[in-house]
Amino acid sequence: MSEHVYINQIDEEHVGDTITIKGWLYNFRSSGSIHFLELRDGSGFMQGVMLEDDVDDELFEQVEHLHYETSIIVEGRVKEDERAPYINYELDLEDLEVVNEPTEEYPVSHKEHGVAFLMDNRHLWMRKPKQMAIARVRHETIRAIRGFFDDRNFTMVDAPIFTSSSVEGTTTLFEVDYFGDDAYLSQSGQLYMEAAAMAFGKAYCFGPTFRAEKSDTRRHLTEFWMVEPEVAFMEHDENMDLAEAFVAHIVDHVLEHCQTELGILERDTERLEAITPPFPRLTYDEAVDLLQDHDSDIEHGEDFGGRDETILTEQFDKPVLVEKFPADIKPFYMRHDPDDPDKALCVDMLAPEGYGEIIGGGERERDLETVQSRLDDEGLDPEPYEWYLDLRRFGSVPHSGFGLGLERTVAWLCGRHHVREMIAFPRMLNKIIP
Ligand code: 4AD
Ligand code: MG
Repeated sequence: MSEHVYINQIDEEHVGDTITIKGWLYNFRSSGSIHFLELRDGSGFMQGVMLEDDVDDELFEQVEHLHYETSIIVEGRVKEDERAPYINYELDLEDLEVVNEPTEEYPVSHKEHGVAFLMDNRHLWMRKPKQMAIARVRHETIRAIRGFFDDRNFTMVDAPIFTSSSVEGTTTLFEVDYFGDDAYLSQSGQLYMEAAAMAFGKAYCFGPTFRAEKSDTRRHLTEFWMVEPEVAFMEHDENMDLAEAFVAHIVDHVLEHCQTELGILERDTERLEAITPPFPRLTYDEAVDLLQDHDSDIEHGEDFGGRDETILTEQFDKPVLVEKFPADIKPFYMRHDPDDPDKALCVDMLAPEGYGEIIGGGERERDLETVQSRLDDEGLDPEPYEWYLDLRRFGSVPHSGFGLGLERTVAWLCGRHHVREMIAFPRMLNKIIP
């Protein structure tokens, strides 16, 4: 058998050679004496052309009746053709071997399907070019994330998923039975990263986090991936600078490595090319004033609703940093602004084009007694937080960090409306299969 080559590895060197492709029959049409087979092998898509005169009659006849997604191994000669679909090469097919032939029609056909149907068939839908392009943008986003922190000498420290306490409020905790005791799926690795920052100076975690949020919106998953850097001796303003440089780096990397995928997704890349620092910065109060001028009924003191985020981000071409929210709508761990104690030294970054919050973070309260009284105010049992309080007992320093939600970020980069397509097997209010 000839050399096995992946579609995305085919180049000028292969022209005239007979090669083997192992994959699946993606699409098919025929003009009678010529069959056109669209092949996919995971690395890419390409067209194979089968002439009646080139193969034996039995094979030519068999191919005409193959179902979509039949797994096949084909041999053919590589031909350069600029008009070929997908890539500038085509395969003149010489042989085809069926590995497995579906016994029924492939459910996710080339027709339009409703979202509910596609979501129920997510395990098959993920083979489609757009869904694959999204997955590859996600993959490159993850590389960009890790590269950014690794190049800046952060140490990656994995946070646990079973936890004993809440970070982001008790209303969104998934409870699990932990050998008879209460435990929760992690909402955020932040508290553990604060411990890691006191050990390593700069640390980050990157993993799945869970929110039992009964919100059925384009922005909410119950299981999503979050990257959380935490830095000792870093204060609020520097934290915002870090978040800004980080997001600019992700956009740069994706523009550099994902042109093909962004093309498949018909993403307007000019919108992404405009994402260069500095990003606009507003205080919460300025943001509320702006929202009120744009027909929102938000009052000072209230948190943004989904519609508010959409309105806000439509005002700017770049992500916008909104800082200093009212302290009483934010979690216990936030440092309050010494110049205005009713405000927290926190920041949200909202992605443009209506995508909304992709980052939440801020400076952490460093004083032991202040954290203790905040836990008390929120009615939280201090016991499971004793280890966290140790970080204030032993060498407490100013420190800050943030969390970036991967799926919301990828949705923005890909220009896709809903986060459900941004993870292979989304977990949502009404979705746990497949
Ligand atoms: O703003 P959040 O809740 O912040 C934290 O969890 C902090 N403890 C992070 C830190 O400072 N280390 O969540 C951070 C980000 C949000 O900006 C959003 O991008 C994403 O996580 N996120 C969600 N993504 C999808 N579905 C959900 N239900 C999400 N909830 C938050
Ligand atoms: Mg938030």
